[in-house]
Amino acid sequence: MFPFLHRWIWQDPQRCARKLFSFAETEADGGRDLVRAAELTQDPILRRLFTVHAADEDHHATLFRTRGLTLLRSLSDRTESPLQLNWVSPGERGLDDLRVNSESDASLLAFLHLSEKTAAGHFAAYVDALKDDPLTSAVFQEVLKDETFHMNYTLAQLTRVAPKHHGLFLWKARLGRLWKAYLRVMSAIAGVMGTVILTLQYFILLAPFALLAKRAARREPQGWIAIPTERDRPLASQY
Ligand SMILES: [Fe+2]
Ligand SMILES: [Fe+2]
Repeated sequence: MFPFLHRWIWQDPQRCARKLFSFAETEADGGRDLVRAAELTQDPILRRLFTVHAADEDHHATLFRTRGLTLLRSLSDRTESPLQLNWVSPGERGLDDLRVNSESDASLLAFLHLSEKTAAGHFAAYVDALKDDPLTSAVFQEVLKDETFHMNYTLAQLTRVAPKHHGLFLWKARLGRLWKAYLRVMSAIAGVMGTVILTLQYFILLAPFALLAKRAARREPQGWIAIPTERDRPLASQY
């Protein structure tokens, strides 16, 4: 999608480094979830594959973090931190939504297959967009090889564990991802609306309240005020 947009996003080395750090976090988090998936599954083939997959994700996290650090160290000016724009060019999104405990082997494989497929598509676009930065492009190229393997083995295993219903599991996973995307968009819109409404309230309501407070302050008598004699009794109780 929009190769020129990806090129523009990735050409800023500061943004590139920050994005690589956030990608590394997602990969490491996904790796931990896959270790948990390997512990939970009763299927020995899946246990082995999930363990290999977890090690791959951990390796990706190291690759992204190392490249991000090198880029950041090479910058003379690190004061400005541009927006990461991860909603246009995300990392391995999906792994961050993983709920391993509540998934069956088949539903987890379907979810992983779709996430890996999307990630592979994005990373292929970044390899292209980063032609001017061959070292970062090479990192994505290396990660892309693993993501393609993840995409293929998850589909092959889904077909093995649910030979008659694998299509159904894929559709359910697709709808789940669509629902999460809808929630993400809606919460972003709610965030923008909240900011706009609070800003308008600040500028529209604050000025009249300040004027009223000033008027009320002007009506207040200045200095000490004598207490009426009926209230000036010695204190006999708290009330
Ligand atoms: Fe990965
Ligand atoms: Fe992956």
